[in-house]
Amino acid sequence: MIEYSNRRIKLNGGIILDNFRFYVPTDIRFGKDRLASELTQVLDTFGKTVLIVYGGGSIKKNGLYDQVIDLLEKNQNNIVELSGVEPNPRIETVRRGVELCRENQVDVILAVGGGSTIDCSKVVAAGFYSEEDPWEFIVGKNGYQGDALPIVTILTLAATGSEMNAGAVISNMATNQKLGVGGPAMMPKVSFLDPTTTFTVPAYQTAAGSADILSHLFESYFNVTEGTDIQDFVSEGIMRAVIKNCPVALETPNDYDARANLMWASSLALNGLTRNGKHGVWSCHAMEHELSAFYDITHGVGLAILTPRWMEYVLNEQTVTKFVEFAKNVWGIEDENQFTAAKKGIQATYDFFKACGIPMTLPEVGIDEEKFAEMAQQAVAHSTIKTDAFVPLTEADVEAIYRSSL
Ligand code: NZQ
Ligand code: ZN
Repeated sequence: MIEYSNRRIKLNGGIILDNFRFYVPTDIRFGKDRLASELTQVLDTFGKTVLIVYGGGSIKKNGLYDQVIDLLEKNQNNIVELSGVEPNPRIETVRRGVELCRENQVDVILAVGGGSTIDCSKVVAAGFYSEEDPWEFIVGKNGYQGDALPIVTILTLAATGSEMNAGAVISNMATNQKLGVGGPAMMPKVSFLDPTTTFTVPAYQTAAGSADILSHLFESYFNVTEGTDIQDFVSEGIMRAVIKNCPVALETPNDYDARANLMWASSLALNGLTRNGKHGVWSCHAMEHELSAFYDITHGVGLAILTPRWMEYVLNEQTVTKFVEFAKNVWGIEDENQFTAAKKGIQATYDFFKACGIPMTLPEVGIDEEKFAEMAQQAVAHSTIKTDAFVPLTEADVEAIYRSSL
């Protein structure tokens, strides 16, 4: 019997694809040496006054800042700057950006950096038009449906996929909240993906970014929806590419091919390609965002610590088949016993993160059990993992996963 509902279709109890729309209008300019000939041309389509947004100074050290300023000055742009965007960008910085845009009547935002810089830029872009304070629409849970200033990005770190999606994650350390928000107008118009801009990414951030990319793939791959061969096979391929190229980038930071593969993986892992049509919410991100909200840790590191523990925790009779596929298609591991194969795949995931130099326990990143209960409550309150995850997780489950990460 086929039963239709407005969100999903059940076929004999199995969940088949949700209907989806795949519309990702970001114009990707991939490859080296494109900025000199294309950047100002792109910006001019939106106007002359540009807000350049960047982080704590890595772009000043590696020469990208000088290159961009030089191009804009020669093009007679009016340049406004928002600097010092924090990793885990703060709402206060967003507000500063909105003020700058209003005071200077900015036409276009140029985000030069990693996910934090791009996320901050997106919410500034929306905040410019919004009558309410940006934190209001972030906590509002309905996303942002209004207009936003156009955003152009120059990505410098392969990780979040923010360069090709409509989401942003902003932190409010005063209330220990780190929340996501998204809206169609927040999608970057153009993103420059030059792998050479990531040559200077330190080993720790290279590994963390790779863990984040893998997590974006895992979160959708381990899902209750059936028959998603396209999403899953594409996902397995990107996972294998990250597993192959991250160690090369760690060993040889200026290996163009390795950096190029990681960069393109970053964008494809979270632009809808491997996620659309899949039902339900993500688990590890909900748990990790609380770690960052309370302890301000690196997102990808938190994910690497939690992911193998979560995998082990949700492995059961219903989920084992998926873990067997994962072990075989991603790690090349097979075993006659399903659970043995599944556990070997999970162990391989743990070993990979560890070999990349990621600290693999919570105490190593300064987190002890003191706030486990509070963070577990928040993880459940801020998401629908209790009802809608691959394996639903209660507060007690989340706490147990935190505890197993000690
Ligand atoms: O701030 P600067 O000085 O630029 O240094 C940064 C920062 O310290 C440095 N870095 C970046 N590019 C570099 C570089 N250092 C040397 N050379 C370069 N080329 O790396 C550090 C981390 O940067 P950040 O932007 O914070 O990293 P990432 O790209 O991992 O972004 C993390 C943020 O994105 C959110 C995370 O929660 C976190 O707040 N996420 C955003 C998502 C989205 N928009 O779709 C999804 C993700 O799941 C994630 O939640
Ligand atoms: Zn992530």
